[in-house]
Amino acid sequence: MGPGSAAAPLAAGLLWALLRLALGADGREQERLLLKALGLSAKPTPRAAAPVPPVLWRLFQRGAAEAPERACRVEEFRVPGNIIRVLADQGHFIHSETPKTSLCLEKRVYFNFSALEAGEQLTMAQLEIQFSHNSYHPSSGGQVFELRLSQALQMSLHGMPPHGCNHKLLVAQSFAQLHKSLFFNLTEVAKGWRTPSKNLGLILEISVGSREGAVAWPHPRLQNPCASIDAFLDTSLLVVSLNQKQCKDTRKRRSAYHTPVTPSNLCKPRRLYISFSDVGWENWIIAPQGYMANYCLGECPFPLTAELNSTNHAILQTMVHSLDPQGTPQPCCVPVRLSPISILYYDNDDNVVLRHYEDMVVDECGCR
Ligand SMILES: *[C@@H]1O[C@H](CO)[C@@H](O)[C@H](O)[C@H]1NC(C)=O
Ligand SMILES: *[C@@H]1O[C@H](CO)[C@@H](O)[C@H](O)[C@H]1NC(C)=O
Ligand SMILES: *[C@@H]1O[C@H](CO)[C@@H](O)[C@H](O)[C@H]1NC(C)=O
Repeated sequence: MGPGSAAAPLAAGLLWALLRLALGADGREQERLLLKALGLSAKPTPRAAAPVPPVLWRLFQRGAAEAPERACRVEEFRVPGNIIRVLADQGHFIHSETPKTSLCLEKRVYFNFSALEAGEQLTMAQLEIQFSHNSYHPSSGGQVFELRLSQALQMSLHGMPPHGCNHKLLVAQSFAQLHKSLFFNLTEVAKGWRTPSKNLGLILEISVGSREGAVAWPHPRLQNPCASIDAFLDTSLLVVSLNQKQCKDTRKRRSAYHTPVTPSNLCKPRRLYISFSDVGWENWIIAPQGYMANYCLGECPFPLTAELNSTNHAILQTMVHSLDPQGTPQPCCVPVRLSPISILYYDNDDNVVLRHYEDMVVDECGCR
């Protein structure tokens, strides 16, 4: 067994499956196996194409530009991981029957963690609270807001977190600008959310701060500083996780996107472009639209030369084959070095996922 040979069945199976799909034979079963190899239980069918979070685009483009030297690590955040998800907030606004004058909004923040599989280890969770105001409220210049973020520890009978009690305050801070994102490290809290019954979400409260010198509100001539702040609020959770099973090999690899084309029937990588739209996956794979997967093809004749990256066993096998061509086949031309790619896609819950896959591109072939 040489380097990379353990992973060869996946790449070979992948090509086979895609070709079979393209040809339309045995499509369903092959597609299921291929999705399984990609860590998916079913083909995602995104309802609405949610916008791709800029951070995922940036990471995807960086990964595509330079083959990651340390696979299964997200250098941007300095954490181990091969799957990055941006989960959309599924919580609702809480409308209190007795509104408090200073409270702009109260909201339950909930992220469904069912997309994370049992074998994944959560290594980072970062909450982003974004206010998509593109300008300041002219009347609220200099207004300070107070933000309180608490973890809900118990649900009331009507499914809403009860007010006041059974909350654990995580953060209380003031902020002035409404056009910038606020980030919070929720790694520890989110680890507990892996158990669905313990995931009761968060309570987010934003109120008008009482800064000294600020104009007191309500004020007859000024617009309510809270005005429509809820309409501009966007909360999401960036989750990085590591699936160790898909991360066994961290050797540095060379990318062979430019495989030389020399006319020869000797064993070598051949160019193969796999287009995701050709297999009908363009509606859930965001990027890339396809990639140069390559494959191995060619003869492994006697005598095997060093360029054919053969094993001692393969050298002996060619010798035996040259003596008895009918009884013993030539060694096989198989991938001996593969490199990873990253795929950006929608999962079955409409989350945007950036996932790193090992052994997707054939870089070098050998006679084995
Ligand atoms: C979370 O998502 C899963 C799969 O989509 C769904 O079955 C489950 O009901 C969701 N849970 C909540 C609390 O929304
Ligand atoms: C987030 O919190 C975790 C656990 O408390 C800590 O290990 C990690 O370093 C923090 N990350 C950042 C970026 O501060
Ligand atoms: C064998 O490996 C060398 C470098 O390790 C590489 O240059 C060569 O292309 C490989 N041979 C094949 C057939 O891929």
